[in-house]
Amino acid sequence: MFLFGVDYYPEHWPEERWALDVRLMVEAGFNVVRLGEFAWTKIEPCQGRFDFSWLDRAIQLFQERGMRVILGTPTASPPAWLMQPNPELFRVREDGHRLTYGNRREYCPNHPLYHAHTREIVRAMAEHFAQNPAVIGWQIDNEFGDRCYCPVCRAGFQKWLQRRYSTLDELNQRWGTIFWSHLYSDWDEIPVPLSTGNSPNPSLALDFYRFCSNSYVEYQKIQIDLIRQICPGTIITHNFMGFKYEFVNYFDLAADLDVVSYDCYPRMQWTMQAEVDPGWQALAYDTMRGLKGKNYWMMEQQAGQGGWEQLSVMPRPGELRLWAYQAIAHGADAIVFFRWRTSRFGTEQYWFGLLDHHGTPGRRYAEIKRMGKEIASAGMSLLSTTLKAETAFLLSYDVRFAFQIQPNNPQFSYPAHFYHLYQAFHRRNIPVDVIGPDADFSSYKLIVAPSLYLLSEHLVDRLNQFVRDGGVLVLTQRSGVKDETNLVIDEPLPGRLGEACGAEVVETDSLAPGMTNSIVFEPTHWREVPPFEVGVICDILKPISACAIASYTQEYYAAQPAITLNHYGKGQAIYIGTIGTAALYDEVTSWLQQRLRLESILDQSSNIEICRRQGESGEFLFLLNHTNQPQPVNLEFDYTKTLDDQRLPAGLHSLPPKEVWVLIRE
Ligand code: GLA
Ligand code: ZN
Repeated sequence: MFLFGVDYYPEHWPEERWALDVRLMVEAGFNVVRLGEFAWTKIEPCQGRFDFSWLDRAIQLFQERGMRVILGTPTASPPAWLMQPNPELFRVREDGHRLTYGNRREYCPNHPLYHAHTREIVRAMAEHFAQNPAVIGWQIDNEFGDRCYCPVCRAGFQKWLQRRYSTLDELNQRWGTIFWSHLYSDWDEIPVPLSTGNSPNPSLALDFYRFCSNSYVEYQKIQIDLIRQICPGTIITHNFMGFKYEFVNYFDLAADLDVVSYDCYPRMQWTMQAEVDPGWQALAYDTMRGLKGKNYWMMEQQAGQGGWEQLSVMPRPGELRLWAYQAIAHGADAIVFFRWRTSRFGTEQYWFGLLDHHGTPGRRYAEIKRMGKEIASAGMSLLSTTLKAETAFLLSYDVRFAFQIQPNNPQFSYPAHFYHLYQAFHRRNIPVDVIGPDADFSSYKLIVAPSLYLLSEHLVDRLNQFVRDGGVLVLTQRSGVKDETNLVIDEPLPGRLGEACGAEVVETDSLAPGMTNSIVFEPTHWREVPPFEVGVICDILKPISACAIASYTQEYYAAQPAITLNHYGKGQAIYIGTIGTAALYDEVTSWLQQRLRLESILDQSSNIEICRRQGESGEFLFLLNHTNQPQPVNLEFDYTKTLDDQRLPAGLHSLPPKEVWVLIRE
């Protein structure tokens, strides 16, 4: 079943209201509801005393109307009775301060006492609901993240290091602790990188970030193991925060789950913009699909304004539905809106649900009710379909962590750089998979690996092999700088990636704000184009077997190569040694597209986003107009619009603003 539903907090509303809410949900076409998340004190009002009666009654109402339930474990928001008497359970921030009670996500993920209480509540819930057929799945906790620097984590980190390095000699050598006399002679001496310690040893900091990430993976595993044991066959998920979130290695966090879920809020108080850039959402969706290499769920799809202290820009008419279809277009097999009715109290008073505080259905409810009808008729056949891409973007959380420690240039942002390259593909409707360093490369024609700053020998080997086998690899500035322990390598950059690239980095200039350079393409190797402005980082390249295809025009490195192209084995590697504007990435992408014959879905040059899901039940084209104007669509064949079952003959059509068509060939 294509899951279509909403997040509901029955404990926030008088019980007399529940039946009306359930009826309105059913009328909107909802078939699933997420419950229980954050309800710890309501389920366990004091230690060891559990009360499920209210939740049983709520679930029964849903069950009577044929709706399914996903239960959230409530551990993201611990009760005061647990936290107040045990101050050591609170997370310690990077600056050494311990959090205090009053928000959520305040716990230390490594504390044994927190683990014990987690086991109790999760076991009690799992045992209570194991036989309830309405409960089809579980969401673990809520949006894992944030590092803890407490003494328990420090001791855990020291043990983790002991397992990783076995001996202190090995650790001292691999971290280079001889620098500033940091040699450790006892595991207990090793600190965590508090900001009071100032710029830490980069190897220590990277390992700590890995340890923190792994702490959530292991904490999640405690809950997963219990639920799997008590409720075999259930579906277990966690709600992730998309591409931009970068404190947890999401590939690792996804590994133990059955399905990845995502929480998506294009308009919220922290992103106050007049217009939403649909490319950022597309990248988030492709990343969520990439974490397990399969379709994902939307667990929180925006349902209204998103704000805590501020009112965000109101989602424009059509946007909620459009964004939900964009998620589906990129591989979502479930859409669950956050939240049902806007809370009258608490931190999220201005985080709007489908219904306003007053609870009477309005514009947003009507928009989603329309979608409910469409999903009821088209949803099922989408389930056996997914996206196929010839291009992969390589995402590394180790690289993200390493750049958090040393950004290299104050103007550089790895996620932004990654996005700017991705955007050039997205604008052309070239399908992209986002993959991790361990993914299988063999099905791709092209791998783009933005600033692969830190990497393992194994990954270097696999990338070189990919090129030898006929693949095209695009690397950008500051690639291959570090080994896995965050030491700078002892050969010319980009180290052994140079095998595929056939070029070396002679020097790297780092530009101050306001400083720029520009590059010109060599007419013998490239079509005639105007110069492109570049900046921030400039790797000055020396071709070994590669040819220079673009060179700098200014500074002491004028006329020296900025971009090289090398033939290696059956493939090619391109090294772009500097950061350009969108114009440069558009140029390179259109060149790659032509050279590699990368398919643009429908080959439209107009301003619409187009995705394709294909599989057993056929081929579905999603055409999405994110703009405020109608956009022309030129169709070569006859199609049917699956959402309203209307025919769309070949020829020129106009896709209305904020509208979506889902087409199948006749
Ligand atoms: C996140 C959480 C939700 C809710 C929203 C709005 O996505 O998962 O519980 O708090 O943000 O703040
Ligand atoms: Zn801790």
